Amino acid sequence: MTAPIAVALDAPDPQTLTRWAAAVAGVVSTVKIGLEVYLRDGAPAVWAVREAVGPDCGVFLDLKLHDIPATVGGAARSVQDLRPDFLTVHAAGGPEMINAAAHALPDTRITAVTVLTSLGRSDLDRLGMIGATESVADVVRRWALIAIDAGARALVCSPQEVAALRAVVPADITLITPGVRPTGADAGDQRRIATPASALAAGADLLVIGRPITAASDPHAAAESIAQECSNALTKCGE
Ligand code: C5P
Repeated sequence: MTAPIAVALDAPDPQTLTRWAAAVAGVVSTVKIGLEVYLRDGAPAVWAVREAVGPDCGVFLDLKLHDIPATVGGAARSVQDLRPDFLTVHAAGGPEMINAAAHALPDTRITAVTVLTSLGRSDLDRLGMIGATESVADVVRRWALIAIDAGARALVCSPQEVAALRAVVPADITLITPGVRPTGADAGDQRRIATPASALAAGADLLVIGRPITAASDPHAAAESIAQECSNALTKCGE
């Protein structure tokens, strides 16, 4: 079985993209293509990745859509041929927008990004997005429930929020956490980090991991090693 990891393929060019994809094929469940690659290389990059990873690997299109419902519905339809397993939208776009995406792509898990981890309480306060007695975690929970009600089937949240969300969202909702670092790895620019073991124990279903794999001298070996860390953690969770 492959590890519940979505490798962030934030590659600087198409050759590197397919090299990384081939390196993690068969080791991880999912690969993630984000704005950097999609805006530069477009749909052919997704096809190239699909070919490199094979049919059993999921494709996560991280386009973080946020616009009026008709435009987001149209944008979702325009990636229909790529058959993404996951497509991200911003929960802040509201329920109608999320519903438009879900309606456009019934076979894709529309994935709501809750509060960006780059935003703190004071940012939300300035934007008028948080109640006087609310915490950021309260806003994350409120937006998550609205997004699910509107048709989202997965949520992106920080490892700090995953346990609280797991407690309130249905079991079939996929909880996806970035900011995961294997034990002893460099945090880089990620602030609120967790190890694979702690994120999985808290209830995460899919771990977004980029540079600890892609910046390694041997990405295949790095993926294998983190996959082993996940497997050990999952065995422990099941005991
Ligand atoms: O593991 P690494 O830090 O390289 O992963 C970075 C990836 O995770 C990027 O693709 C980024 O878009 C994504 N991400 C993040 N923090 C979030 C949401 C997504 O770093 N809060």
